[in-house]
Amino acid sequence: MKEQLEQLQMEALEEIKQASTQKSLNDVRIKYLGKKGPMTEVLRGMGKLSAEERPVIGELANTVRTSIQTTLDARIEEVKAIELEEKLKAETLDVTLPGRTSAPGHSHLLQQIIDEMEDLFVGLGYTIAEGPEVETDLYNFEMLNLPKDHPARDMQDSFYITEETLLRTHTSPVQARTMLEANGKPIRIICPGKVYRRDEDDATHSHQFMQIEGLVVDESISMADLKGTLEVFVKQLFGEAREIRLRPSFFPFTEPSVEVDISCFKCGGKGCNVCKGTGWIEILGGGMVHPHVLEMAGYDSSKVSGFAFGIGVERMAMLKHGVDDIRHFYTNDLRFIEQF
Ligand code: PHE
Repeated sequence: MKEQLEQLQMEALEEIKQASTQKSLNDVRIKYLGKKGPMTEVLRGMGKLSAEERPVIGELANTVRTSIQTTLDARIEEVKAIELEEKLKAETLDVTLPGRTSAPGHSHLLQQIIDEMEDLFVGLGYTIAEGPEVETDLYNFEMLNLPKDHPARDMQDSFYITEETLLRTHTSPVQARTMLEANGKPIRIICPGKVYRRDEDDATHSHQFMQIEGLVVDESISMADLKGTLEVFVKQLFGEAREIRLRPSFFPFTEPSVEVDISCFKCGGKGCNVCKGTGWIEILGGGMVHPHVLEMAGYDSSKVSGFAFGIGVERMAMLKHGVDDIRHFYTNDLRFIEQF
């Protein structure tokens, strides 16, 4: 029996040495120390031994068992370490690779123009107003003196959603909304925002673009106030040397109405390709708020008056930076965007 045990120990230790994975080591454990293994077998035969032999063999059996157990445990630790080492090797990071940098972004050119305008007008005592992009026919047209079937609606081909709702064709509905909310009180607001028209997209037209609306309502507001305000704005955006010129025009919600030109910033008025030889560039529409529009919004047009204007943001940006195609603003080509 003694030889049997010693033989077992030898075989087990040898197998442990050969095993190189945690799984095969576990198999060795089950094979030698498991309930159905040879150790159990040997111990079961102890009953047949003499009283002197029994403790001797018992002690030897324990030693063999412990020796297998500890060798096994030690080897498992070794194998674990080797396996970890291999795993780490397989997953090595090349720390010499250059890192990925994320450059800080900046506002889009159109937003920069809006920010600049907001700063200027807030400095003049205006507040910033907002309105919905999905607008009702009432605010987009009727409250602005454009009743149903008015021919001037043709100037603003529209995206209708239902008979009575559409994507706003200009920021002017915010005029009507602000006046109703102000409840007869004076107003100084600008409202930047997106507007939509059913245009064929080309270099100067887009079905979606941006406007900045301005509205002032108070006692004794005159055309001179409109002109003075626009002069300040034009000099801010295009430089001190710019002059403005008002030409008669028509909008149903202003009377009189004007188109506003600035003296060409490229040639200074002599005539060039930017101003198409005229020395002047058209930049916005405006006028004195139509008395009927004031009345519809609850003002007494014999006591108060107002002016309003609408600036095309893309047009400002194109003029200021010599951008030749409006579509550059929306296609997100970084080569374009990063120039501003
Ligand atoms: N809403 C007009 C347009 O989009 C511009 C405008 C605004 C004209 C305010 C007069 C007063 O064409």
